[in-house]
Amino acid sequence: MIKTRITEKFGIKYPIISAPMGPFYTTELAIAVSEAGGLGVVSHATLRGKNSVKDFKEQLDHFIEHSDKPFGINVRVARIQTDHRVLLRKIPQWRKENPKLREQLVYALTSAGGPRVAGKMWKEKAPDMYHFHVGPALWLVNKIVESGCDGIVATGTEGGGHQSYEGVTTLVLVQQVAQKYPEKMLVACGGIATPEGVAAGLAMGADAVAMGTRFIATTESEFHQNYKDLIPPATARDTMLTTGGFGPIRLLKNKFCLEHGKIMTKDEKISQELAYDMDEYLKDLIAYELVYTKGDTVDGAVPVGQTIGLIDSILDVDDIVSGFSNKAEEILKNIFSKT
Ligand SMILES: Cc1cc2nc3c(=O)[nH]c(=O)nc-3n(C[C@H](O)[C@H](O)[C@H](O)COP(=O)(O)O)c2cc1C
Repeated sequence: MIKTRITEKFGIKYPIISAPMGPFYTTELAIAVSEAGGLGVVSHATLRGKNSVKDFKEQLDHFIEHSDKPFGINVRVARIQTDHRVLLRKIPQWRKENPKLREQLVYALTSAGGPRVAGKMWKEKAPDMYHFHVGPALWLVNKIVESGCDGIVATGTEGGGHQSYEGVTTLVLVQQVAQKYPEKMLVACGGIATPEGVAAGLAMGADAVAMGTRFIATTESEFHQNYKDLIPPATARDTMLTTGGFGPIRLLKNKFCLEHGKIMTKDEKISQELAYDMDEYLKDLIAYELVYTKGDTVDGAVPVGQTIGLIDSILDVDDIVSGFSNKAEEILKNIFSKT
């Protein structure tokens, strides 16, 4: 059995985490992942608009009603994601009011903004909840460490969804972070979708790996069947970086993505992002809703990672959580016996 700081501290059996995939809902997926012995993550889902805080609480209640296992959450703390300010306050309060939630909600991941405000608030109000932040480049990881986070999710550019301007790969980034901050818990994320990928992440010094796209293509995930079905036949070249609400975003190269506009330089991207307002953000959400509810993978926004080129079938969550983990252990044990 693979034991790491994360499996030990979080009380999970396998070093596998489902990556958050807001604005979509991943609560059923998270339940399946935690039940299989990994760590499921409830996403910051905002497709129901104004009721997002109430909705978030309902997702947490749903999780603990259907599983007794540890799990995590994501809050996107971007400027434009205005509900995050309420969520940062409410999450410790909800934990305090409900001992079952407090016991199970062990991991809170912030992303798409800075970690400082959440870190300060949660250290005081929820010191027993591990706070991690997404670090897509070493200079941002330095800030995460300065802010006192318990751990880092090192996410490389090959991953699906929002990415950094820097475009550093998971292969380089995980090694950089493991070398510079060996005392911090580390999750490798982006571009991992096989047992070999899991083994590589752990070999580079990660305490766990997180996968997004791989978990979309599972029986249990609540993604539309059209979304799941486009993953196995796709190739690694079928994604591209375009401009999303919080900066660059990796999407399926479909009609929406090609027409959405590609802004080339970081300065141009930043000024576009600063000009971006709530109305545009809500307009963008329609493109996600189209995919989620209608399965329109042509006119909708379809975040996927380059791992779509590695995934050739829809699997049960357990095949990934225990299956990949056990195979990764075998790979790591037998690495020197190849002839
Ligand atoms: C559909 C989708 C939605 C995503 N939404 C979020 C999000 O809300 N918050 C976040 O921190 N990352 C988000 N991401 C990024 C993932 O958490 C993770 O970094 C990425 O999926 C890793 O790459 P992979 O897909 O190759 O495993 C999203 C990714 C996908 C594919």
